[in-house]
Amino acid sequence: MNSKTDFLKNYTLSGSELSILAYPHATLSKVASEITDYSDQLVQLAKDMTYTMYQAPGIGLAAPQIGKSIRMFIIDVGFDREEITCADGTEDFVLSNLNPMVFINPTFRDGEGEIIYEEGCLSLPGIYEDVTRFNKITVDYTDLDGAQQSIEAEGTMAVCLQHENDHLNGKVFIDRISLIKRNIIKKKLTKKKKK
Ligand code: NI
Repeated sequence: MNSKTDFLKNYTLSGSELSILAYPHATLSKVASEITDYSDQLVQLAKDMTYTMYQAPGIGLAAPQIGKSIRMFIIDVGFDREEITCADGTEDFVLSNLNPMVFINPTFRDGEGEIIYEEGCLSLPGIYEDVTRFNKITVDYTDLDGAQQSIEAEGTMAVCLQHENDHLNGKVFIDRISLIKRNIIKKKLTKKKKK
């Protein structure tokens, strides 16, 4: 039987590139709604989000970042990226070892330990800050078929999962750093916008 998650196995880049909202867009600070309809449109959205994440490129992308306030995100923390120079002299990149994963309505439990990781976000380009999170975490979620799944993650993957889940709760990573640092970043971003 065909599964809606089939496209994730032996994944090849295909889909439409969606535009990514920049912080402080209002959708990025909204709590996203639970997904109840495991439709073909949801599969198409997951495909387009996956494609968009790789084009950026980033290791995670949450639905609110592309303007859909629903509880779904994509991650891939393990792919390789190789810079290449095209025949006409322009720079490009080639991605390999793609292994995207889709998480719907995730819930987190059994957080353990601590990890400090320099995070970035496709909605806050050019901003990188150390954030402290659980080093190990278990996530219960549903897949695109609506089937219940569970995964234990550690290190970079645990960080990425917690970062993406924050997006579903209307948070970005700079909400987890000191108020002083956050205000400096906010000022920088407003200046950038005015330019
Ligand atoms: Ni992010």
